[in-house]
Amino acid sequence: MKIIEEKVEIKFKKDDYLIHIGYGILDSLKYCLHLKDKKHVVIITDSLVYSLFYRLIRASFSLKSDVKLYKIILNNGEKYKSIKTVEIIFEFLLKNNIPRDAILVALGGGVVGDIVGFVSSCYKRGIKFIQIPTTLVSQVDSSVGGKNGINFSTGKNVIGTFHNPIHVLIDTKFIETLSKRDFLSGISEVIKYGIILDRNFFFWIKKNFRKILEIEKNTLNKVVKKCLRLKIKVISNDFKETKKNRILLNLGHTFAHAIETDLQYNNYEILHGEAVSIGILLASKISELIGELGSTDMKNILDLFKSMNLLTKFPRKVSINRFIYIMKQDKKNINGKLNLILPKKIGKAGIFTSLNDSLVREAIHFFQID
Ligand SMILES: NC(=O)c1ccc[n+]([C@@H]2O[C@H](COP(=O)([O-])OP(=O)(O)OC[C@H]3O[C@@H](n4cnc5c(N)ncnc54)[C@H](O)[C@@H]3O)[C@@H](O)[C@H]2O)c1
Ligand SMILES: [Zn+2]
Repeated sequence: MKIIEEKVEIKFKKDDYLIHIGYGILDSLKYCLHLKDKKHVVIITDSLVYSLFYRLIRASFSLKSDVKLYKIILNNGEKYKSIKTVEIIFEFLLKNNIPRDAILVALGGGVVGDIVGFVSSCYKRGIKFIQIPTTLVSQVDSSVGGKNGINFSTGKNVIGTFHNPIHVLIDTKFIETLSKRDFLSGISEVIKYGIILDRNFFFWIKKNFRKILEIEKNTLNKVVKKCLRLKIKVISNDFKETKKNRILLNLGHTFAHAIETDLQYNNYEILHGEAVSIGILLASKISELIGELGSTDMKNILDLFKSMNLLTKFPRKVSINRFIYIMKQDKKNINGKLNLILPKKIGKAGIFTSLNDSLVREAIHFFQID
């Protein structure tokens, strides 16, 4: 098999780690260097990913005979990104006396990655972990950047830490088995990068949308690499989101998180990327309503979302009053007014303060009409 591979090096002051990206890279075991000197390896995955890939991963690790390998198989879905799941993992690790110099392996999508990142940051005050992301959302976004977290009934990702993995292995071949719905969920995050940071990338996606939807190997590799390069550039300057750069990567997410929270993280109703899709559209519409985003750019955004079959309708089951109430709980907001990240034009976003919720209602109305 031909391996297309690329090393992307991410450098933080004390916390460098390597990201390997390529098609079929996990068929070769040479990347799992960090596992060679470990005595305890714990693979954490979800039930679907386990059934699809555990054997492949197990074989590619080719661990020495004295290494103790453990596996933890979680229920799959956003509902399980919870404190209960974290507790189950802690119990397992403690019961099996997993030492501090062990390594955890997050094998799965953003849900597994976020949970394992969180557990790694606090188990015995911090343990090393590797990310092996298997969904488009996790490959272009969640596996890199060190943010982790779990959901609570009152809000998404409200409990979490910053904790970098020591290595990220991205095999784009995993994407081929994703359901159409989970694949499209990742496309919203891909387009997000174009709208916030890179106009040319947005129009490149528009031009290549068919190849992307067909999951054409080389095109998809380009997409994943481009998204990560854009993300790395932003987070290298603002790892803990204390300046005004990294926060822009949350475009559409205040809306998305409120939708997901209101629908109680039920993946039958909504996937994270679907909520992001309608969130980005609402942000764009509000920007147009306040005279910031031009109507041609608005049309280009909506047309691309439609041509890629992304969610462009506000979910009927979400009560608008509850939605606005949850949005106002977001930490960016003060005094009942909304502070939102909005696109200024395709390729540039900014933070807008003291917005009225009537704008949100007006924007929702636009996406309720068939
Ligand atoms: N930490 C961050 O910076 C960050 C960034 C973006 C998203 N997130 C989080 O990521 C989560 C969403 O991630 P997700 O979309 O990957 O969801 P997910 O982890 O639930 O995965 C989606 C589904 O795909 C299945 N799956 C995984 N890999 C597969 C494969 N290769 N083939 C077939 N099926 C596969 C999973 O079992 C699951 O059912 C959300 O909780 C979101 O908040 C975090
Ligand atoms: Zn997201």
